[in-house]
Amino acid sequence: MKKLSPKKQEIWNMLQKSFEENRSKTIVNYFEEDKNRAEEFSIQWENFFVDYSKNRLSKSTLHLLLQLAEKLDLKNAIKDYFQGAEINETEGRSVLHTALRKAKSEKVFVNDKNVIPDVIAVKDKIRSFSKKVIEGDLKGWTNKPFTDIVNIGIGGSHLGPMMVNESLTSYKNHLNVHYLANIDGDVVEKLTREINPETTLFIIVSKTFTTQETLTNANTIQKWFLEKAPKDAIKKHFVAVSNNVEKIKEFGITPENTFPMENWVGGRFSLWSTVGISIALSIGPENFEKLLLGAQKMDTHFEQTPFDKNIPVILSLIGMWYNNFWNAETEAIIPYAESLRYLPEYLQQGIMESNGKNVDRNGNKVDYQTSSIIWGATGTNSQHAFFQLIHQGTKLIPTDFIGFRESTYGNTEHHHKLMANYFAQTQALMIGKDENTVKKELEKQGKTPQEIEKLTPFKVFEGNKPSTSIIIDKITPESIGSLVAMYEHKIFVQGILWNIFSYDQWGVELGKQLANVIVEDLETNNIKDSYDSSTKSLLNHYLKND
Ligand code: F6P
Repeated sequence: MKKLSPKKQEIWNMLQKSFEENRSKTIVNYFEEDKNRAEEFSIQWENFFVDYSKNRLSKSTLHLLLQLAEKLDLKNAIKDYFQGAEINETEGRSVLHTALRKAKSEKVFVNDKNVIPDVIAVKDKIRSFSKKVIEGDLKGWTNKPFTDIVNIGIGGSHLGPMMVNESLTSYKNHLNVHYLANIDGDVVEKLTREINPETTLFIIVSKTFTTQETLTNANTIQKWFLEKAPKDAIKKHFVAVSNNVEKIKEFGITPENTFPMENWVGGRFSLWSTVGISIALSIGPENFEKLLLGAQKMDTHFEQTPFDKNIPVILSLIGMWYNNFWNAETEAIIPYAESLRYLPEYLQQGIMESNGKNVDRNGNKVDYQTSSIIWGATGTNSQHAFFQLIHQGTKLIPTDFIGFRESTYGNTEHHHKLMANYFAQTQALMIGKDENTVKKELEKQGKTPQEIEKLTPFKVFEGNKPSTSIIIDKITPESIGSLVAMYEHKIFVQGILWNIFSYDQWGVELGKQLANVIVEDLETNNIKDSYDSSTKSLLNHYLKND
């Protein structure tokens, strides 16, 4: 993989020039200049329609961005990504979540070994295990079928499965799936009041099996469980997913209940692996496999489609345009589906843990911006919360609107209203409302000239706020698989464009190390002098030491 600085490319200067020349143009201007813009700036793929015409982007700028992608050797980087090259260089690993959704007939090599047969074997194990739990063939220690599943994990071992299960609630079976992530003891307490140990299956999910939150929660749960159950009940009620099989043994979990995870699957990209076992349990293994199929279809689209019709590539370039030339700090993600409410949170980890880096692939400090800040919530709720700022605030916030053509349960009346809001928001953001229109409206309402003069500035909407509309036919396991894979590939492309390593996360380590030191001092009430004075004062306040 080449290590080229985007800023050192001649095209970067051309993009800068293009930015200066076009910055006063509005999105509406672009539509006036080109009657076919809506068609030209949209991609129809399978059951996805991606319309990126409502962006501050001219054809010539897009052309330059596409050229930049070529110059930065994106084509070969994509090959490396899919073929298992060690693109996670700082950890010496391949990045192969895409291998998890490949068909049986395909081959992907890691250290000269085709990994697909193992992937298929693990998938078979997930299928037969989840079937047995769902159908009640596997039982608890008192011979009762399982009713509840508790996934104990955090970050990538939590957010992906929780987000997918919530998105696909309409596919859910009788099992109640709970997620235990935060180390906050109140959460464990609350959970233990809701579940019956005789009918609950616990899945400890941790790639490393060293994560403080997960191990603490797992130990607390196990202790609680053993207050009610005999020791050998652990064999029936505890399952583990990890890359650290030795540690699982120490926990008393049997080989049958051990689900391995490869080190070439990054935590935040792992929902397709054994980490997704709570998904297979909740929606059934057939639907889990459809989720994988949807992702695989997006992989093929990304791998084989020319850049100008390639959804992840186009979305990445647009993101870079706002981030690096318009200086937009954030990007909002607004799904118009309540069941997708965890998607922004999931993507926060995926995007920011991957591309929140300030050192390039050569080890030099970057002199340009990398990942945007990702945030969002569902529409229409967010319209009644923070949309004011997107419409009339001072920040530029490119926004992805994600909507569906059909509702899940067929309630057309609600769905038309939901989607009317989706369309209205993107329209309002682009067109705004000018002074003349505001004045006319106020006149019609019978306001006096003085009142009109006073109120007008507050009622004007500048418009020209960018959005990208993603419309998918329906929420299905397959479409959710494609949607998540689309964002995964966007993360990859942007990492290439910014010349950063997207698949490590060293930035989360320091806080973990310090917390381990602090917890010892809190437990022994021994606040050392070596702390900085601010932290020392807070710790003493916490312990009520004078
Ligand atoms: O702290 C960050 C992180 O390492 C994430 O990248 C990961 O998803 C999460 O912690 C959980 O890690 P593990 O699965 O090893 O417990």
